[in-house]
This record gives sequence, C-alpha cells and structure tokens, in this order.
Amino acid sequence: MNEIRIFSPATVANVSCGFDVMGFCLDSVGDEMVIRKVGKKGIHIVHIEGFDLPYDTESNVAGVSALAMYRTLDLDFGFEIEIYKNIKPGSGIGSSAASAVGSVFGMNELLNRPFNKTQLTEFAIKGEALASKCEHADNLAPALFGGFTLVKSVSPLQVLEIPSPNDLYAVIIHPQLEIKTSEARAILPKDIPMANAITQWANFGSLIHALHTSDYDLIKSALHDAVVEPFRSQLIPHYNELKEAVIKAGALGAGISGSGPSVFTLCKGHEVAQQVKGAMASIYSETDIDFDIHVSKINTQGVKLI
Ligand code: HSE
Repeated sequence: MNEIRIFSPATVANVSCGFDVMGFCLDSVGDEMVIRKVGKKGIHIVHIEGFDLPYDTESNVAGVSALAMYRTLDLDFGFEIEIYKNIKPGSGIGSSAASAVGSVFGMNELLNRPFNKTQLTEFAIKGEALASKCEHADNLAPALFGGFTLVKSVSPLQVLEIPSPNDLYAVIIHPQLEIKTSEARAILPKDIPMANAITQWANFGSLIHALHTSDYDLIKSALHDAVVEPFRSQLIPHYNELKEAVIKAGALGAGISGSGPSVFTLCKGHEVAQQVKGAMASIYSETDIDFDIHVSKINTQGVKLI
C-alpha cells in the first residue's frame, strides 16, 4: 500500500468542566487527507483545498506533526500530503488537531503501524503547538482515540478513554467568527478562587462518573464551567441567550467548544438534538452572523481510513 485517504474528525475540547484535559470526537464533520509514500525523502505538502494554509512543511500544522514522526525514523523515502480541509481554522472544533492527527495517522498506517495512539498523539502535539502556541492534547486525543478522552498528563503523555453513553448526541453551532486559541488563552487569569476550583473538580469528577454509568441526569448537573466560561463567553455574541434557549429545548447542557466561537450541547436522543438545533438556529437567525449547525453522534472510532 503506497497511498491512503483518511477522515480526520472534528472534536470538542474542554466539555465545560474539563478545561485542557477533556474532549470528545464528532462524526459528522472532519477533514480528508491523502498520504502517499514517495521516493523523495522528507515531508511534502502537495495540495491544499478548502482554506488558505501554508505549503511550507515547517509552517503547516500537518507538516510539523509529520516531521516530528519522520525524524524519529531512518527512512530512505518520504511522504506527500494532500489536505482537503473542511473544518475552518479558528472555529473551535479542533481544526488544527484534525490536521495534526491526520498526517501522523496516515503515515503510521502506510508504515504498518510502528507507533501506538499515545505515541501518535505525542507527535501531533508538536503540530498543535504551532497553531495554539501551547502543548495541549484535549482535541488531539479524541481525534485519535475516538469517544471521550481525558488527558491525565501531557508530560509524560497519559490518555484515558472514557465510555460514551449510547444515546448521547452533540449539537454544535459554529458562528462564522474567528477566535484565535492563543488570544482566548491570553484573556484567562493565571489563578482561580478556591471556591471555583472546588465547584469545577466536583463537576468534573461527576461528569466522568456519569459517562461511565450512562447517568444522563448527572451529565446534566455536571456540565457547568465555573473557571473559563465567565471570561470567554464575552467573546461570543448572544452566548447567554443561546445557552438559555438550548436548555429550554431539552439539551443536557451547553458550553464553549474549545476556545470558541463554536458552542456545543450534549443531548439525550436524536429527537431532542433536532429540537436543540432548531433553538440554536432561531437565536442566530435574528442576527447578521452566518452560522452552521452540526448534529452528531459521538464518534467512538476517531480518525479512520476511507
Ligand atoms: N483546551 C484548549 C483551550 C482547546 O480551550 O484553549 C483549544 O482548542
């Protein structure tokens, strides 16, 4: 096998109370990439569609993660990468993570899988760091492992796979605004009050327990963010209104997807998810901001061959 095509999924990081450690994987939106073995050594980005991204390997997220992996190997051949980008950079649903993961996953497949998913995540962190100016893996891990993941630590990297209740759907609205992760991180305080920390870790522990036990009521009571949302929600127009409307429509909870501007909800069942989609659309239709809405089951497989 010398060439493969892969689907690299969008992901939701943070999941309200799990800032920088928790994420889950979507199945209805993602990038496609073609990875090809070639005689010429090195990593060569030869085609990009969808968004204007750099062809220079060292300046491209997919290129940087691919190089991190390539440099650990002593190969007498190289790889070409074609990128068909569907996830808009800066949309808050793991655009850079999908790029970073796609190249290393594809190369690993062509090499007959010398690396496990944790090692692939470590290479992909290098690409993610180019985009967000910090090494975090809360989008990368769900894109590679699928389902819900908890990044227990980045150094050394330890990823825990958390079960996904069967009837859980995500509905994501993506207002067509750009929020740079680096800027959304810069507005966060360095310290947090003890009372907020206590609320946050109580909710986070509860969310993990709820996912293990498929306890939808507990998911609902755990999906709150006392730490980051108060600062970042100011960057998203109509955020409070949107949140109120989706909860009224039956969502278990809602929060900022990654660093925004996308907003995610988790819902029990497809019917509720469709009602929530309608509620989201009715809020943003009243504004002059363009938007997309995605309804997705939790993707338990992650990045895959197509
Ligand atoms: N955890 C990161 C953040 C995800 O919220 O800054 C960014 O994609």
